[in-house]
Amino acid sequence: MAREFSTVGVVGLGTMGAGIVEVFARNGIDVVAVEISEPALERGRATLTASTDRAVAKGKLAAADRDALHERVHFAVGLPALHSVDLVIEAVPEHLDLKQRIFAELDRVCRPEAILATNTSSLSVTEISVATTRPNQVIGIHFFNPAPVMKLVEVVRTVVTSPEVVADVEALCARLGKVDVTINDRAGFIANALLFGYLNHAVAMFESHYAAREDIDAAMKLGCGLPMGPLALMDLIGLDTAYEILDTMYRRGGRDRRHAPVPLLKQMVTAGLLGRKSGRGFYTYERPGSPVVVPDEATPPTTEAGLADGARAIAKVGVVGSGTMATGIIEVFAKAGYEVVSVTRGAEKSATVCEAVKTSLNKGVVRGRLAEADRDAALGRISWSATLDHLADVDLVVEAVVEELSVKKALFASLDEICKPGVVLATTTSSLPVIDVAMATHRPADVVGLHFFNPAPVMPLVEVVRTIRTSPEATATARAVCAALGKTGVVCGDRSGFIVNALLFPYLNDAVKMLEASYSTADDIDHAMKLGCGYPMGPFELLDVVGLDVALAIQRELYLELREPGFAPAPLLEHLVTAGYLGRKARRGFRDHAHR
Ligand SMILES: NC(=O)c1ccc[n+]([C@@H]2O[C@H](COP(=O)([O-])OP(=O)(O)OC[C@H]3O[C@@H](n4cnc5c(N)ncnc54)[C@H](O)[C@@H]3O)[C@@H](O)[C@H]2O)c1
Repeated sequence: MAREFSTVGVVGLGTMGAGIVEVFARNGIDVVAVEISEPALERGRATLTASTDRAVAKGKLAAADRDALHERVHFAVGLPALHSVDLVIEAVPEHLDLKQRIFAELDRVCRPEAILATNTSSLSVTEISVATTRPNQVIGIHFFNPAPVMKLVEVVRTVVTSPEVVADVEALCARLGKVDVTINDRAGFIANALLFGYLNHAVAMFESHYAAREDIDAAMKLGCGLPMGPLALMDLIGLDTAYEILDTMYRRGGRDRRHAPVPLLKQMVTAGLLGRKSGRGFYTYERPGSPVVVPDEATPPTTEAGLADGARAIAKVGVVGSGTMATGIIEVFAKAGYEVVSVTRGAEKSATVCEAVKTSLNKGVVRGRLAEADRDAALGRISWSATLDHLADVDLVVEAVVEELSVKKALFASLDEICKPGVVLATTTSSLPVIDVAMATHRPADVVGLHFFNPAPVMPLVEVVRTIRTSPEATATARAVCAALGKTGVVCGDRSGFIVNALLFPYLNDAVKMLEASYSTADDIDHAMKLGCGYPMGPFELLDVVGLDVALAIQRELYLELREPGFAPAPLLEHLVTAGYLGRKARRGFRDHAHR
């Protein structure tokens, strides 16, 4: 017989606790909600009220159900109020000594059969459990933020947690409408172990002025389809909590430098910039607790004039290359009204590219996204050439030839001779240093990276790479061009992986290492990232789509540039590539696609 949970206790009604109270009360379970003081209790009550009122306003909860929900919650100061609950979930700040003290007291006040659970993100559940006389009834129940929304719960069993307790808690999660993954007690469990290295890296990018906060966040949202950018997510998590999680993961998780909290985080916490809950973190919010971002002194100007500050006028664009990227880029520029000169290595190649552009534009017409007249106008704006000489009068050149430095350098040297002064010369390289290409010309100030994503006509993001020699005008021009194409241009420095790949691939590599260590399964890891963090695909699904060989090559470059031990490619990834299991294109990668 599964255990009945009719009343549960929640300790600490902050970011997580208030949401956890809501989850239980929504599902018909009585809750005793406990805080340390009256003001803290009032704050917790206000959070619950605001959240349920929002749900009513959005039509997700009936007013009568909200009232019933509130009636199920009993608020109290101090742990003794928990004397008769069946289960307690602790959600106080991420400090081991505080949690141990609370568990020792819970052990004294709660019924002997009550289960004691912690919502810790990174501390050892085992160490917390030994503060009680019933470590076999202590378990981790790790909810995700915001608890009422995110479907995932990580259930963390220690070596002494009794199997019945694990089974009872799993059944409870199902009753709450959550999906659980049950795992052993390791720092960061699944999701945070994969998430926090990435978040910390994003903060380091911001701290070093590698890219602006809006650009880092936009890059990950638009480039990877994430529900929010890393800095906005840090604000949601709470910078104090994030700092403690990183610090614990660093100490417990093998002193991986990528988990050593970036110094800026500590400074922000000390300054009281805790994120949404304090009204200011990486962004400024309308008021403490509000999700609404308001402009502050770091907000970039949004006016067209501001965007185009110092930008040069661009009317005619040259695109060099005949591959997938060049084809997509030609289409994007022509559709946006630019005159385009396509240069390939021969008439035959030009004919192929021309056909591909036509086919793609026709698809747009068939799908009702493009008028026939607009298609014809776009095609009419493109001229086809097999010689670079036709680029003598363009205002911008976008190079999208093979990813080989010697080829690109030779091309840029030629462009330098042919193009008029003041032209912006852009490379679409995804992995070579832009400065190497720039120095093949006598005008490195005019050279930028324009890293389009594949397929270019669809993907809304372009990384604008400025080298240490790029002029502000060239950067402004590139950004203005992106805006005119209807894309978001994010500006970043000239380092391996720019923003998106530098943040994405180490995370994917970490997932492979976690699988390799047999901590969890590919299915559970994919679930955890999708249901706990709202990712559109799990890491193994994404790796199979991207191609394991591509992922390995990018990861190798990141490792070679930074020599960061944590970036070393996972041996399992190397082996799968060697074995020819490259992902969907080989019909087998982490999963077998031949029989699906
Ligand atoms: N923030 C997140 O995104 C997130 C996600 C999952 C898990 N967690 C984990 O949840 C726990 C809570 O984190 P948070 O972000 O909600 O913290 P928080 O700072 O927002 O809230 C902590 C609450 O605990 C209360 N508290 C402190 N001492 C107490 C005591 N002795 N008795 C009762 N209440 C006390 C505080 O008044 C505060 O309201 C941490 O272990 C954290 O790692 C956080």
